[in-house]
Amino acid sequence: MSNDTGTDLREEVRSKYAAAARAVLEPKPGVTAQAVELSGTGSCCGSSATSSGCGTGSAAEAVGGFSESLYRDGETDGLPEEAVLASLGCGNPIAVADLHEGERVLDLGSGGGIDVLLSARRVGASGFAYGVDMTDDMLTLARANAAKAGAANVEFRKGVIEDLPLPDGAVDVVISNCVINLSTDKPAVLAEMFRVLVPGGRIGITDVVAEDHLTPGDRAAAGSYVGCIAGALSRAEYLDGLAAVGFADASVIFTSEATPGMHSAIVRAVKPSR
Ligand SMILES: C[S@@+](CC[C@H](N)C(=O)[O-])C[C@H]1O[C@@H](n2cnc3c(N)ncnc32)[C@H](O)[C@@H]1O
Repeated sequence: MSNDTGTDLREEVRSKYAAAARAVLEPKPGVTAQAVELSGTGSCCGSSATSSGCGTGSAAEAVGGFSESLYRDGETDGLPEEAVLASLGCGNPIAVADLHEGERVLDLGSGGGIDVLLSARRVGASGFAYGVDMTDDMLTLARANAAKAGAANVEFRKGVIEDLPLPDGAVDVVISNCVINLSTDKPAVLAEMFRVLVPGGRIGITDVVAEDHLTPGDRAAAGSYVGCIAGALSRAEYLDGLAAVGFADASVIFTSEATPGMHSAIVRAVKPSR
């Protein structure tokens, strides 16, 4: 991808998710202007945390749905409503990452903060959860949600996931929910995840992944880039990319089909201890 194309796509992604955040920050009755604007791509990135489908006005519904509810019954109880309304993921990375008390977690593309807040609960006061996002309105929403939740062990940093604003070996676990497909430089994202993990650290990610027989052209025909379809890696590309930067024990497991040949998937891998 040329630099110009990558920059244009990144700005398109940023603009779309800024509008999604504003749909929650500045709610309007019925279908909001943001929802109308967002529905223009004709494809869907996230799913409502608690209900299925695209299109009745929440930020999540404005940008679509990979169907089913992502979080278990009761899992989001006690979170600010705005964090749940802004859920735009395609899975539940908290369940995937098997977090433990005291761990340091980083969420790539943390959006309205739902997975950071859930992680913070899991790791407890002796742990810490960071979120990184490039979109100012999303950071505003996430920080407001953290304040409402009274979460002291969280921090949202502005940055891009291709150049993370954390030092080497800063976290035990990297999670992410439906974001890596949106990156215009995926090898850089995989290398950055490896860099910020401690030796022995792990990734527990949910993302959209294509079956290996789908060409980039097939993926582009299946949906838009900002709708989390066109930019998806294939399973083999994910596994090769993770191995190329040093990860071990990588797996990509399809969980549900979003559109023919394109799946919500769970991605796991470990940074070797030495
Ligand atoms: C599909 S939403 C998912 C948000 C959140 N993970 C969730 O489950 O609700 C994508 C988020 O990733 C952010 N994002 C997309 N590309 C990014 C990049 N290259 N660097 C940092 N953030 C990015 C967007 O601003 C947006 O908040």
